Amino acid sequence: EEISKFQESILSWYEKNARVLPWRKTSNPYHVWISEVMLQQTQVNTVLPYYDKFVKTYPTIQDFAFDSEDKVLKMWEGLGYYSRVRNFQAGCRQVIEQFGGEVPRDKKQLLSIKGVGDYTAGALLSICYNIPTPAVDGNVFRIYGRLFEVEDDISKAKSKAVYESLVNETMSQSNAREFNQALMDLGATVCLYKNPKCVECPVNQFCSANKNNTIEKFPVKLGK
Ligand code: ADE
Repeated sequence: EEISKFQESILSWYEKNARVLPWRKTSNPYHVWISEVMLQQTQVNTVLPYYDKFVKTYPTIQDFAFDSEDKVLKMWEGLGYYSRVRNFQAGCRQVIEQFGGEVPRDKKQLLSIKGVGDYTAGALLSICYNIPTPAVDGNVFRIYGRLFEVEDDISKAKSKAVYESLVNETMSQSNAREFNQALMDLGATVCLYKNPKCVECPVNQFCSANKNNTIEKFPVKLGK
């Protein structure tokens, strides 16, 4: 009951406030995958023109997978973290060779793909296939760290499992696609690292840190 109210608050906020983004208009998992690779270390506004150019140049996974490394690197110029695009190309070849060119719907299979970790697997399963799976990134650390006053240090690898459990237990099972993307937008626009806009937050009444005035203590980040 409490959990479904929490989910409804998040989902109805997202209905009104979702950012309009090109990778949200597509149902092509390969395009969603590109967007997630670009968004891993790069801000949305920087990604936008690169995403458009990328999908125009390489509309299908086959177009991209077998193009030459220098053309691919040229396309990526200015985005940085070039190993991302090399891994992505290796991953796309793997999808063609091992999965018939279809982005798998299974977490284990996704994790076997070069460059795909827990976050990307969760983002792809939820966004492409609406399969409820946590996608824990900095946004989720802030939102859930504050909601539950999580004491685990986010700079320690094992804390991710704690956050994944919390998301697993509270995320929408029927609207995982919208729920996870709502967390991304809530983290980007409301649950900010500095000066979070708690007054505007759709889940402030569920938030322990907001209730206890401990927002600046969470998420806990001490270092390894
Ligand atoms: N950050 C990471 N993935 C994103 C997405 N799909 N939409 C907006 N921001 C994101």
